[in-house]
Amino acid sequence: MLSLSAGHLETARRTLDPAVWDYYQAGSGEETTLREAEAAWRAYRLRPRVLRDVSSVDLTTQLLGTTVESPFVVAPMAFHALAHPDGECATVAGTGKAGCLSVVSTRASRTLEDIGVAATGPWWFQAYVMRDRGLTEALVQRAAAAGARAVVLTVDTPYVGRKHKVSGVRIAVPDDQFLVNLAQHLLPGAIGREAAEQDPSMTPDVIRRLAEVGGLPVLVKGVLRGDEAERCLEAGAAGVIVSNHGGRQLDRAVPSALALPEVLEAVDGRAPVLVDGGVRTGVDALVALTLGAAAVLVGRPVLWALASEGADGVTAALEALGADLRHVMAVAGAAGIGDLDPSMVTGALRPPG
Ligand SMILES: Cc1cc2nc3c(=O)[nH]c(=O)nc-3n(C[C@H](O)[C@H](O)[C@H](O)COP(=O)(O)O)c2cc1C
Repeated sequence: MLSLSAGHLETARRTLDPAVWDYYQAGSGEETTLREAEAAWRAYRLRPRVLRDVSSVDLTTQLLGTTVESPFVVAPMAFHALAHPDGECATVAGTGKAGCLSVVSTRASRTLEDIGVAATGPWWFQAYVMRDRGLTEALVQRAAAAGARAVVLTVDTPYVGRKHKVSGVRIAVPDDQFLVNLAQHLLPGAIGREAAEQDPSMTPDVIRRLAEVGGLPVLVKGVLRGDEAERCLEAGAAGVIVSNHGGRQLDRAVPSALALPEVLEAVDGRAPVLVDGGVRTGVDALVALTLGAAAVLVGRPVLWALASEGADGVTAALEALGADLRHVMAVAGAAGIGDLDPSMVTGALRPPG
């Protein structure tokens, strides 16, 4: 698994335009949160079970009523066409073949309708609430019509985090790719990039509104505290995703791996809690799942795989993660996701400062 991921990373680094590579890799500020993400998973220690029949391990699980063969989910990320000409169409095609679910970004560089046709498995739509609320609502409705089974509302981005590796706050994406899902909803003469800016005045009422507009469950992504998860559930969220946006928003925000237990405690089984940030191996996922996460999202490694080998690369990367998880579950004494529980993991050591 590690070698496949490292191979994709090296190929992506060699072949991508350096500006695109920097955009993918970047974190905000001094990149403290970005740096700590992977180490925070490694700080947990496992308490394996023994003498269990682990001759076959099943990764199948349920996410909001959808059965998936693997608990790895592709995180929403902008502009996949910068990595591969088929963009998100290749990503969703490759993801479904690996038995996984993908989350498609508002900033996708292929139309929601094309993505819906290309999808070989379930997908959710990630919404940003933009200054023009009608734009967001139109996208949610189109996503629902195109086959999305849930909306992931990202709430950690009232303003886009400042990334020193990227000039300004965003990469220079050609307009025809930046606007691909927004263009048809803009009034004549409107400046797409301005209309597409996130609305910094957004409050929890938007959760119910989007659920009504799309007729889909809404998960809230970007939650790092128990009390905030509670607010989201009260406002109608069907689930939460513990995330610091891959270290791209508030630098020095707590690692997701450390925030996860607090959020799980507050949610207390009322809704699924997913997590992302620095998940790179089967054992990272095992820690998250034993703590109680319903699934783990993977970001950058999917882009490296997409850049390296297109849809086949995405399938290979997700299958390798699944195989790695299957192996470590067996060695930890678990034959299925339902066998994992918090008694199998012990508290985080302090992450390296
Ligand atoms: C290049 C890039 C673009 C991203 N774009 C979005 C986005 O459009 N919407 C969103 O909710 N999160 C976005 N994210 C954050 C990811 O969904 C996810 O939280 C993060 O990448 C997980 O961390 P990992 O890359 O360490 O796996 C982006 C991340 C990257 C690396």
